Amino acid sequence: MRILIAGGAGYVGCALIPHLLDRGYKVDVVDLFWFGNHLPGNVGILEKDIFNLQVSDLSGYDQVIFLAGLSNDPMADFSPAKNFIFNASAPAYLAYIAKKAGVRRYIYASSCSVYGYTENELFDEDCPVNSSYPYGISKLQGERAVMQMVDSEFSVIALRKGTVSGYSPRMRYDLIVNTMFKCAMEDGSIYVNDPAIWRPFLSIDDAVMAYTRAIEANDSLSGIFNIASGNHTVGEIADLVKLAVEEEFGGKISLNIKQIKDLRNYKVSIERAATILSFHPHHSVKSIVRNLIANREKCSDWENPLYYNIRVFKQLESLNPVGDPALPLAAGGTR
Ligand SMILES: NC(=O)c1ccc[n+]([C@@H]2O[C@H](COP(=O)([O-])OP(=O)(O)OC[C@H]3O[C@@H](n4cnc5c(N)ncnc54)[C@H](O)[C@@H]3O)[C@@H](O)[C@H]2O)c1
Repeated sequence: MRILIAGGAGYVGCALIPHLLDRGYKVDVVDLFWFGNHLPGNVGILEKDIFNLQVSDLSGYDQVIFLAGLSNDPMADFSPAKNFIFNASAPAYLAYIAKKAGVRRYIYASSCSVYGYTENELFDEDCPVNSSYPYGISKLQGERAVMQMVDSEFSVIALRKGTVSGYSPRMRYDLIVNTMFKCAMEDGSIYVNDPAIWRPFLSIDDAVMAYTRAIEANDSLSGIFNIASGNHTVGEIADLVKLAVEEEFGGKISLNIKQIKDLRNYKVSIERAATILSFHPHHSVKSIVRNLIANREKCSDWENPLYYNIRVFKQLESLNPVGDPALPLAAGGTR
């Protein structure tokens, strides 16, 4: 099986790809390498923008996975125009040329952020979506565009992931559990904007399993699936991170609870993924923190700008502002 992963050099891709290579898949990556290259040496590399791919570049692949785009709210808010280009148009264009090239499955990295602000209800994939901010809107636009291309020859699976956390060779400390862990380690304090809001969280290992289940699902399967390890309020996540760090290192981590309202509040059901994809998460906030502790030596330069998407993106944008969708290559990572 040959798989092309767009955005495969990012946080999720760098954890997923070694696992796919272990399973015997042949993997190539197309990426702009905004955050450098942390991929294993035996991955094929196309260093280019998705928009510069042609149908001929995709022939011979069995599956294409979209992991690219602007992957959080701060980036999307900083440049809404590029957000809509990279998050809505790029996945649509890639699916379009993949289908023309005879690729039989397309897997799209969607997000639970499409649910927006909800109250006191567990959301499944049939519930109304209602995000009012650029990132959530664009992820939904991308999802709708690719889902409408499904037919008997072209399967599309959209994975609406919760916020991923845990260690990846392309590390990020701008994701909920990772951020809290980093603050606990660096400052001895965890900061919480709005303790009441709900968030589905997803261990990176469970995310890798979700992509694996999607890749290996029967050929005729298409659909949208919520993917999460669990749901907690942000206040509870902070308590769990605090406890796990204190258990490991002793001492006391303080909690700094603010009351800054958040526009995103959702908890999701993963029943459909369990029933149809055989996706069963194995991880908890505690096991994510254990994974971060085990890998901390590799990324304890806590303030390295490469760990924060918005810092890299602002630097790239200052070199090539809105107007030209092509951003220049990496902002100083290893290649
Ligand atoms: N990380 C999460 O918590 C999370 C949760 C839900 C959904 N998602 C989605 O999953 C996907 C992967 O997330 P991540 O955390 O690995 O992101 P990331 O920011 O670490 O990586 C994105 C990668 O895509 C590349 N890229 C962006 N636009 C490109 C283009 N036009 N052409 C080629 N390469 C391009 C970048 O260079 C980067 O390597 C994203 O689509 C994101 O929206 C992520």
